[in-house]
Amino acid sequence: MTAEKTTAEGMYEYLREKLSDTVPDFELRLKAGLAVEINRLKKEKNALILGHNYMEPALFYSIPDYVGDSLELSRRAAAADQDIIVFCGVKFMAETAKILNPTKKVLVPSPKAGCSLAESITAEDVRELKRRFPGVPVVTYINTYAEVKAESDICCTSGNAAAVVESLNSDKVIFIPDEYLAGNIARETGKQIIFPTRDPRHQFPEDLDYQMIGWPGRCEVHEKFTVEDIENVRKQFPDVVILAHPECSPAVVEASDFSGSTTAMIRYVEKTRAPRYLLLTECSMGDNVAANNPDKEMLRLCSVRCPHMNEITLEDTLLSLQKEQFEIQIDEEIRLRAYRAVERMLAIG
Ligand code: 13P
Ligand code: SF4
Repeated sequence: MTAEKTTAEGMYEYLREKLSDTVPDFELRLKAGLAVEINRLKKEKNALILGHNYMEPALFYSIPDYVGDSLELSRRAAAADQDIIVFCGVKFMAETAKILNPTKKVLVPSPKAGCSLAESITAEDVRELKRRFPGVPVVTYINTYAEVKAESDICCTSGNAAAVVESLNSDKVIFIPDEYLAGNIARETGKQIIFPTRDPRHQFPEDLDYQMIGWPGRCEVHEKFTVEDIENVRKQFPDVVILAHPECSPAVVEASDFSGSTTAMIRYVEKTRAPRYLLLTECSMGDNVAANNPDKEMLRLCSVRCPHMNEITLEDTLLSLQKEQFEIQIDEEIRLRAYRAVERMLAIG
């Protein structure tokens, strides 16, 4: 942290320089004060703050020790040696931190920070899939709760999903719970995918050719982007470079120029020089990327803020540190089984 970021005035100046186009001035003043107090308490309590790329701009640029995508933040959580980890992200991310580093007190600033993908599947759903497709390994997206990870052979994130699937060298894999991510990975790896209904009596024809078995979960943010959106933008700006998160539908990803994890998209913008960019992902990330790349033109197609990420504010993060709330608790037997699946993923990359 630079010296000037330790005072409210210094923090305000820093945030104003970065975010004056994005955040109203009176808000920046308020947030600068909160951020300085959080950083003071973080030091006092020997805490580490991790911030997902979807955090709102003032938080993103003021308090995290590390920002990143799910994979990067999992690695940071695993390596943390502070007493407390405050996860400015959603609950499944904080749970992953606890799975990897169980002796730390892991806090998530709001108990309401869920995820439509994590809520789309239960441990019993996974057990039922394993009964229907015996012996087929289960690859589980990190956007799931610990009980679901515990039923899995290996986890993956948007940053390594194809590598994880390929690493299994298996004729078939169960890939849960994101229907669109699964479809995108099937396309990337040249596999056929089927989506069983929830009715366990439903049978597929014996001679059906498939290598992946998916699940109908969706991200409520990324499912909203359409090919029509892309066509409309390209009509107005033929030279735009469009980046889509792999939680967007396969048709949207196919119509885009690049697809990757949140950090992969950030790096792509940083390392290339296109006339203009459009990010098909969560709104705040667009703001964060624009703030860090003032020389690049970022188009906005953004009415979609993740309501779960939006629960994490500077106010709640301060309360979280002050009261040491809301602590992640995971049953040790479940944690140990989930740990094997997450650890196996981290060993791959
Ligand atoms: P990343 O792992 O790419 O950061 O994605 C997490 C997420 O929840 C995207 O919606
Ligand atoms: Fe879940 Fe989608 Fe929000 Fe990411 S953006 S946390 S996948 S609901």
